[in-house]
Amino acid sequence: MRILVTGGAGFVGSHLVDRLMNQGHEVLCLDNFYTGNKTNIEQWFNNPHFELIRHDITEPIRLEVDQIYHLACPASPIHYQFNPVKTTKVNVMGTLNMLGLAKRVKARFLLASTSEVYGDPDVHPQPEEYRGNVNCIGIRSCYDEGKRVAETLAFDYYREHKVEIRVARIFNTYGARMLENDGRVVSNFVAQALRGIPLTIYGDGSQTRSFCYVSDLVEGLMRLMNNDYVGPVNLGNPGEYTILQLAQTIQEMVNPDAELIYKPLPEDDPRQRQPDITKAKHYLDWQPTIPLVEGLKLTIDDFRQKIQG
Ligand SMILES: NC(=O)c1ccc[n+]([C@@H]2O[C@H](COP(=O)([O-])OP(=O)(O)OC[C@H]3O[C@@H](n4cnc5c(N)ncnc54)[C@H](O)[C@@H]3O)[C@@H](O)[C@H]2O)c1
Repeated sequence: MRILVTGGAGFVGSHLVDRLMNQGHEVLCLDNFYTGNKTNIEQWFNNPHFELIRHDITEPIRLEVDQIYHLACPASPIHYQFNPVKTTKVNVMGTLNMLGLAKRVKARFLLASTSEVYGDPDVHPQPEEYRGNVNCIGIRSCYDEGKRVAETLAFDYYREHKVEIRVARIFNTYGARMLENDGRVVSNFVAQALRGIPLTIYGDGSQTRSFCYVSDLVEGLMRLMNNDYVGPVNLGNPGEYTILQLAQTIQEMVNPDAELIYKPLPEDDPRQRQPDITKAKHYLDWQPTIPLVEGLKLTIDDFRQKIQG
């Protein structure tokens, strides 16, 4: 098949490109390199089945493809808050452009949505039916509300134009090729521990998160794309850890002497987030397989190479 991956030079996108290339597909990787990096995909540059397109998805593009994995969008608060209007544009105009393309060439379209559509949830864990508790005027809104509109657009193209859509709601994912300066908790802790500087905990560390290793997520995305179930479907690891537990685990694995320091919680930071993956198990026969310590080891090895050479 000929498959387009928008955001294919990014963290999740590049792992997806690897899997699709290894399966023998023709892969078009589209990216504007805002947070993505050519080094993530350079292993494919000389492969005739691989094509790299530098393009910003807020502008339309014409391509012939069978499937579209739509991942292009900055994913960490530091990057999506840098230019919040642009983030909304990417989610609204970018998703419109990609859905228009899917409609024109009759391609199947998978949207990489997010657990952020649940906002600061008052239901725990979150099933797909939960409609969320989102602040529409906060500093995270460009991303949360942007993704909610992207889902709306996908479902309207499905109902109105019969585009074959799939919607994945992705929960915290981590792994090799994350940007070390993306401000996300795993990359922060790992980079700090490797540099021998204190690990920064925001708040008292009792807030919880669930962490899915990237290869598990990519498997879930591919199963959803090639399944009849439209979604939305949660993809994440239900194992729940406090931020303090995560810090202590990384401290033990990298640098037992590293200090932990505490800073105030940022605005709109959710207290808890944990996926209910009943639907993913039922419809996709999917669940995460990589335990946290194993995934952290792979991440630490990757960061060690980047930081310590
Ligand atoms: N990593 C996570 O924990 C997580 C959680 C929930 C949802 N997601 C979603 O998964 C997708 C991928 O996330 P990621 O973690 O790999 O982030 P990432 O920032 O590494 O990847 C996003 C990619 O999109 C590209 N991009 C951004 N704006 C673009 C534009 N206007 N035109 C073309 N390309 C553009 C970036 O350069 C980058 O390569 C995103 O849509 C994100 O919202 C990720």
